[in-house]
Amino acid sequence: MTCKKSEQSNCGDNLSLYSKSSFPIGVAIESYDMVPGTRNKEIIDRQFNSFTAENILKPNSIHPQENTFNWSEADQMVDYAVNQNKRFHGHTLLWHNQLPNWMENFQGNSAEWEAMMKTHIQTVCSHYKGKITAWDVLNEAFNEDGTLRNSLWKQHIGASYIEKAFLFAHEADPSAILFYNDFNLALNDKKREAVLSLVRNLKQRNVPIHGIGLQMHISIYFPNNSTIASALKDFYQLGLKVHLSELDISLNPRGVDIDLNDDLLQKQAQKIHDLSILYQQIPKPYQYGITFWGHSDVHSWIPGFFGREDYPLLFDTNYEVKPMYCKFLESL
Ligand code: G3I
Repeated sequence: MTCKKSEQSNCGDNLSLYSKSSFPIGVAIESYDMVPGTRNKEIIDRQFNSFTAENILKPNSIHPQENTFNWSEADQMVDYAVNQNKRFHGHTLLWHNQLPNWMENFQGNSAEWEAMMKTHIQTVCSHYKGKITAWDVLNEAFNEDGTLRNSLWKQHIGASYIEKAFLFAHEADPSAILFYNDFNLALNDKKREAVLSLVRNLKQRNVPIHGIGLQMHISIYFPNNSTIASALKDFYQLGLKVHLSELDISLNPRGVDIDLNDDLLQKQAQKIHDLSILYQQIPKPYQYGITFWGHSDVHSWIPGFFGREDYPLLFDTNYEVKPMYCKFLESL
């Protein structure tokens, strides 16, 4: 999509989001975003001061065979951030998706599964110690009804795999900030309550958990602002740093034929503005940052994954700023 001139705010893109912000502004990147001379690189360098690997630190990519770790591409990405004194957020040590075949087919009793999980977590955390200062230890462990997802980890190790994962990560890098990351925690009360109760339980038993990643795959229609505000409060009041992770704002959550017009783009701009203002009401020590799940509509995961037309990010398919960018900048 290219915005017509009349649709664009005229803030330009020679400004910088992170330079204006009092909290880190992050983006998920792939290796092609770092190629010299490209518009992708220009955007990520100018606008963001925290990077997350969209895919290459996930188990299938970083640990493709039982005795093989695939460091080179990820090292390059992490060093790219560290050399610019920018933060690198690790995503994700454990997930039920994007596991390598050997892990999915691993044969062993529960002690052997636990040892395998420990090796994975500790090898990756140790390798990046001092460079990756915060990790999503666990991603999406709950179902929408608030029950624990029956992942391979749960099947083979039991529900205690969760606390073990946090303990193993902490043992490998005691100074790393450790997050639980999930979606729909604002929208879905049952799921939010289940995660809050997990966090209370872990904290009572001194299991090291320091932050919550609220994946913000949201839309211009929902969740509403008061629901988001209550979710933010629920989590920072438990003493967790709050990461608005994986932010994109869908214009077309129902997957219908859309008439892309200025009204939709302005609604999207208003939503990011509202979200940013709500985020800035969190007490400072709990503001870990906001991370966009990509920078330009060209590369968003949403159209491919859901098979629908959508434009959820800050820059359009011609890498031009959208009203959403300008309104977000204004809010900082
Ligand atoms: O790497 C292969 C490549 O070799 C192959 O040629 C190509 C062909 O399709 O596929 C490539 O893998 C794709 C990978 O992204 C890297 O581009 C996978 O097919 C594709 O499924 C994968 O999608 C990622 C998705 O997680 C996987 O579930 C998205 O990029 C990524 O944005 C998305 O991110 C997740 C978060 O990690 C967790 N929260 C939800 C979020 C959205 O699903």
